[in-house]
Amino acid sequence: MLHDVESTSIGKPCTLPEQAWRSAPCVLPPRTVLRPVFERGEGSPPNCQTRRKCQPERPPHSCRPTQPPSATHPTPEREAELVHLPHSALTDYYADGDAQARQAFLRQTFDSTAVDYNRLERVLGMGTGSWYRRQALQRAGLLPGMDVVDVGMGTGLVASEILHITAEPHKLVGVDPSPGMMAQANLPAAVRCVEGWAEKLPLPDQSADFVVMGYALRHIADLAAAFAEFRRVVRPSGKLLVLEISKPEGKLATQMLKLYMRGMVPLMAKLLAREPSTPMLWRYYWDTIEACAPPAAVMRTLAGVGLTDVKREVALGIFSEYTARR
Ligand SMILES: C[S@@+](CC[C@H](N)C(=O)[O-])C[C@H]1O[C@@H](n2cnc3c(N)ncnc32)[C@H](O)[C@@H]1O
Repeated sequence: MLHDVESTSIGKPCTLPEQAWRSAPCVLPPRTVLRPVFERGEGSPPNCQTRRKCQPERPPHSCRPTQPPSATHPTPEREAELVHLPHSALTDYYADGDAQARQAFLRQTFDSTAVDYNRLERVLGMGTGSWYRRQALQRAGLLPGMDVVDVGMGTGLVASEILHITAEPHKLVGVDPSPGMMAQANLPAAVRCVEGWAEKLPLPDQSADFVVMGYALRHIADLAAAFAEFRRVVRPSGKLLVLEISKPEGKLATQMLKLYMRGMVPLMAKLLAREPSTPMLWRYYWDTIEACAPPAAVMRTLAGVGLTDVKREVALGIFSEYTARR
């Protein structure tokens, strides 16, 4: 049951050997040319009733470079503990050491498979559906009246649950690098959908009470930079929630989950998807889970950029809910 929740606090030693996710921070690719199809249309201003497919905005100017706040610059020892790239290179999909190729692969993959995402997520999501997302947001302390940022908003599955709780679309901003994913989000017109990366959020300092990132952690190019950005954007005592699937603890459980996610899920995707690359996305999904930095390292990184009260709860042995405060 999802009530089977286990808590972990920061400080548990990392048991995995030194891995590539400790490697140097990535270089984000230069911004590409605005595609006219996603330009904001003329007409009446967005209101809270109208629902429509999300129309991703591009920030008007290049965002300022990501810098961890000076008050919390990690010491060299702490810096060595931070996770930058969350997993080692997956060379079945892009070349080792080529940060731009990884980024381009992700953007292309999410753009091209976006049309299948919601349907497959419903069929294959194993509890990561709307009910679970809403419960996790409530557990993390999301309340009406809060200004919320949904990082890696994709097709808006977390955003829809945020609105069930807050009912204030004008107080919600979604950020994602994939215009294709955001274009599938069917949200009230007052929700702002902005094209951008977690590592360089196109948002002002201290502009949110609650920042959430759902199932995008494994796709981030520099986790420490992204967490530092969350800290920059959230107001003092504001809250952060990061949802992610983690490998189960035991070998048998890991093997069984792998059998399902690396075998069954891509097969079912092949039967159900409209896009030929969708089964590959779901294979990639498992490969990133298997290679991902362990939860203790993620928690050290949250604490290492100056976030406080860092906690992790686990539902069903695999659904990690990382919470923290500014
Ligand atoms: C698996 S989807 C999750 C979407 C949604 N949050 C959900 O719960 O269904 C992951 C999303 O992360 C986005 N993403 C990939 N790299 C990112 C980055 N560096 N910063 C923010 N989002 C990123 C992808 O474009 C994709 O839409």
